Formats: sequence, structure tokens, C-alpha cells
Amino acid sequence: MKAITVEPKTPGSARYDDFPEPEAHEGSVLVEAVAVGVCGTDVEIVEGKYGWAPPGKTRLILGHESLGRVIDPGPYSALKGGDLVVGIVRRPDPVPCSNCAVGEWDMCRNGQYTERGIKEIHGFMSERWRIEPEYAIKVDPSLGILGVLLEPMTVITKALEQVLQAGRRAFWEPRTALVTGAGPIGLLAALRLSANNLEVHVLDRAESGPKPDLVRALGATYHTGSVLDLDFEPDVIVECTGVGSVISDSIQKVGAGGIICLTGVGAGGAVASRAAADVAAAVVLKNNVIVGSVNANKRHWYKAGQNLAASDREWLGRLITRREKPENFKQALQRQPDNIKVVIQFSEV
Ligand code: BGC
Repeated sequence: MKAITVEPKTPGSARYDDFPEPEAHEGSVLVEAVAVGVCGTDVEIVEGKYGWAPPGKTRLILGHESLGRVIDPGPYSALKGGDLVVGIVRRPDPVPCSNCAVGEWDMCRNGQYTERGIKEIHGFMSERWRIEPEYAIKVDPSLGILGVLLEPMTVITKALEQVLQAGRRAFWEPRTALVTGAGPIGLLAALRLSANNLEVHVLDRAESGPKPDLVRALGATYHTGSVLDLDFEPDVIVECTGVGSVISDSIQKVGAGGIICLTGVGAGGAVASRAAADVAAAVVLKNNVIVGSVNANKRHWYKAGQNLAASDREWLGRLITRREKPENFKQALQRQPDNIKVVIQFSEV
């Protein structure tokens, strides 16, 4: 079969060519790939900055935002041939740590978790893939290609659960939410926050293109410029850029008792403007919570599936701004200004 593979930590090593069929130990459910979403993590892996091949192998099949059609459900699953499924990304560490032991692998404590298409297990950018039945999530068939948005939706489902949990430490009636960054994660955050009746604001660099309209279609307000120039102090900030200055400004801007959830993974970008103790003093005096959130466990996958199926299909469809063929994967990985979600399409839904 054909697959998009990379030699992790070797920039420029990605290629689309023949690769052995998935091995039986990868799972009893055999799936035909429909589409795989591309995200910043894939770009980092292709640039040689992140990613690990399976033990004893040099190459890793890329891709963790999957959508596939069951070819053979195997003997152990309730799935049927033709079902649309998405694969859970992370697997618990083998020790296991206490969190992985109770199925909260997203909170793995020893770092020995594995992740499909990222860390030591092959991903989904291959014509066929296998999966263990308990890690295959059946998606509402009426979602069609939109099922490929399930993985990013799980990330935001977990992040918003973290915000809610943090809010429960005190009496809390959040009214305003700010999302920084209008990429797929930011826009899905705005969608869910609006669905939860918050007054939602989204800030991004883009002054034109599809992002402002997508935000306005949610009844939310679109901003460009600096977080510091906003004329309100958000109760909740979901930070989706990973940019140092945006994070620093968000900490300064958040309201008293407010919660900042960091979901962006950036690097560098030293911010010279504020000393750490001054930042901490503001956090202390305002009782703020800054919480990091990564990945998702089965509870989030379940809830995200429900939330995705209940969302406006036309709006969700506008998030997929480009579809590329697998042989054009290099173009798919190139960031273009108006892109939101680019997917590599292996077969028709
Ligand atoms: C994925 C997560 C993963 C994280 C770190 C993200 O792009 O969506 O599932 O845990 O990268 O590897």
C-alpha cells in the first residue's frame, strides 16, 4: 500500500511511497483511509523537530487526525463493514502510571505514553490502517468528511473541561471568553464556548479571509491587534497560538478569578517586557488559574463525537479550506494565510 512516512528528527525525509500493509498486532479492525487532517504537529515532525519512529524502525507513518471506513471489523468489535471511524491518538504507558491505569492517558505522568503518527506508533496517513476496537470511535455517518474534525474537537473538549473544573474551586459565573488564535482549535473553542452561552471574542492576526466571517457566524466578535487593547477583561481565555507575547498579554489581561487555558505549543519568542515575579504577583492578586491542556481521553472522545454531530454542518464544512491528494502531501503541509484545516483525502466518503 501507499503511505506518507517520515524519518523522525530528519528534516526533509518525508515521502509518499510503498509501505508494508498494517501488521496484525496494530489491531483487529482493518480500516480504509478516507481523510487525514494536517496540523502544526505534523509540520513540526516533517521539519525534523518532533516525532519518534516505532521501536526498531526508522520510519513513522505520519498523521493523527483520522477518518476511515471499516473494511473488516474483525472478531472482537461491534463495528460493521462500512462504518466511519476515527482512531484515538494516545495509548497509555505500559508501566502504567496512576493516570494511565485509570484510562486518563491524556494526563500521563511518566511520559512513556505512545501516540499514533507522533510517538512510536504508526499514524493514519496510509491507504489502510489497523486499530484495536476499543480505540476506534464510530462517528455519525451523516457527518461524512467532517468526521475528520473529531480529533481537534477532542482536544478542545478536554481543554474546556479543564476550565470548568478549575472554575469549580469557587463560586463562578463566567460571562466573557477570549480565544486567541483562529485556527481549527481556536474556532472549535469559539464554537463550543458560544454553544455554552458565553459572550465569545476571538483574536487573530488575519484581517481578511474566512476567519472573521466564521467567528461572526457564531455570533462572536472578531478582533485583530493586541490582547492588551481589548476593552474588557475576559473571565476565560483559551490560548491557541503558543506565541510568547500573546500568552504574556493574556495573563495580564485576564479578569479577577479568571482562567487561562493554554493549548498552543510554541517555542522561543522571549518576552522581555515583564518580569516573572510581576506576572506571578498579578496571578496571585487576581486568583487566576493558568492550566495547560494536551490530548484527550475516551470521555472527551465520546463527548466530542456528540458535540460534533450536534454542530452546524455548513459552518463545520467551512473549516476545511483545502483538500489535497496524498501525492501532494508537501503542498498540504505548507501553511497558506487563509488556510484553516487542510486535509489529505485518500478516498471518497
Ligand atoms: C495532538 C495530541 C498530542 C499532541 C502532543 C497534538 O497535535 O492533537 O493528540 O497529544 O499533539 O504530541
